[in-house]
Amino acid sequence: MSQSLQNRNVVLGVTGGIAAYKSADLVRRLRDAGAEVRVVMTPAACEFVTPLTFQAVSGNPVHTSLLDEQAEAAMGHIELARWADVVLVAPATADFLAKLAQGRADDLLSTLCLATRAPLLVAPAMNSVMWENRATQDNVALLVRRGVRMLGPGVGDQACAETGYGRMLEPLELVEEVSRGFGPRVLDGVTVMITAGPTREHLDPVRFISNRSSGQMGYAMAAAARTAGADVLLVSGPVRLAVPEGVEYESVESAVEMHDAVMARIADVDIFIGVAAVADYRPVRPKPRKIKKDEARLDVSLERNPDILRDVASRPNGPFTVGFAAETHDLEANALDKLQRKRLDMIAANLVARGGLQDAVGFDASENALEVFWPGGQLSLERGPKTILAKQLVELIARQYRGQHPVRPRAVS
Ligand code: CTP
Repeated sequence: MSQSLQNRNVVLGVTGGIAAYKSADLVRRLRDAGAEVRVVMTPAACEFVTPLTFQAVSGNPVHTSLLDEQAEAAMGHIELARWADVVLVAPATADFLAKLAQGRADDLLSTLCLATRAPLLVAPAMNSVMWENRATQDNVALLVRRGVRMLGPGVGDQACAETGYGRMLEPLELVEEVSRGFGPRVLDGVTVMITAGPTREHLDPVRFISNRSSGQMGYAMAAAARTAGADVLLVSGPVRLAVPEGVEYESVESAVEMHDAVMARIADVDIFIGVAAVADYRPVRPKPRKIKKDEARLDVSLERNPDILRDVASRPNGPFTVGFAAETHDLEANALDKLQRKRLDMIAANLVARGGLQDAVGFDASENALEVFWPGGQLSLERGPKTILAKQLVELIARQYRGQHPVRPRAVS
């Protein structure tokens, strides 16, 4: 089966109809298509199928209550509403359609439907007379006018021995409908590797040389690349950040470890983005035991670390390579020099520790401002939260990358 829902986040709402048993299969089909699925059940749905079933097939905890402290602490309903790329309610009972039409918010699923900006798709399933009832039809018409997409219902034999409209569409048909709603994303089918955070260069078992990098920009880049459809591998030094959902993660400490982790996987990478603040030097001879203060003076001899970015960029048929540069002066000249010297496809430069900006942007701050250069072009990304800048930069990288690697139109069979 094609991975048409690769990296898509689907919230599946299950309401209390007999067709709920089919929704377990639907979860499996959605996952086969590449989606990450989180299931929300109404209390009535739990009478038909147990939450445990959906937990097992989705691989995620099932959300059943608006007022569940534990569930809210793990992923609250607003977070879930934001997480969703699409909300699919299948089966949707006549009662749920009525609720949705009224805009009620008296349980988790109806609240989530109100709180999300994601497209809402609904697969009704009910007795055919209930479906044809004027009240139901009025609700459906209102919902369609508001932009809700109705999937089905289909026609055929029903559990209640009626025949007619009211059957929930089959799971595979629903997966196809959900996939159809998504256009292609800028980095669909592209593998991106990102380095992030600082490195630690040990002097002895308890001391190290490091820097103030918080990892925020690298993690924001990983999240943005993943949202743009990429398969993302994040190679990170020690930071206090959660790994973005759906991102593969490898933890490292020193520059040499980061270099090894990157090189081990680089052959499969299409775009490499070096955001890490890699230490340029490491102690020549780290001590196996804690250094004692016996001497009046301590000289530490340092040697050069491998330059990960340069090594990646100089590979024959290497990936599209993007570097970051933190500069204290002559930003443009230094950035252009690095772009050429390291043979990069793009460099994103920011000023650190200068004038009034020093505490607010760059290292260890949640905001940044970037000057981006590539052979033959440049763009300023104005000061803003790193999450926003990351999104803009990923779009720019994708545009440049696609200029070199256009997507081939699909062959017509
Ligand atoms: N970088 C790297 N490996 C290193 C050092 C740096 O991959 N050992 C990457 C960083 O992730 C960043 C870019 O190189 O993307 C810029 O690093 P920077 O230290 O600013 O540049 P240098 O070439 O070391 O130049 P200089 O020290 O002269 O500023």
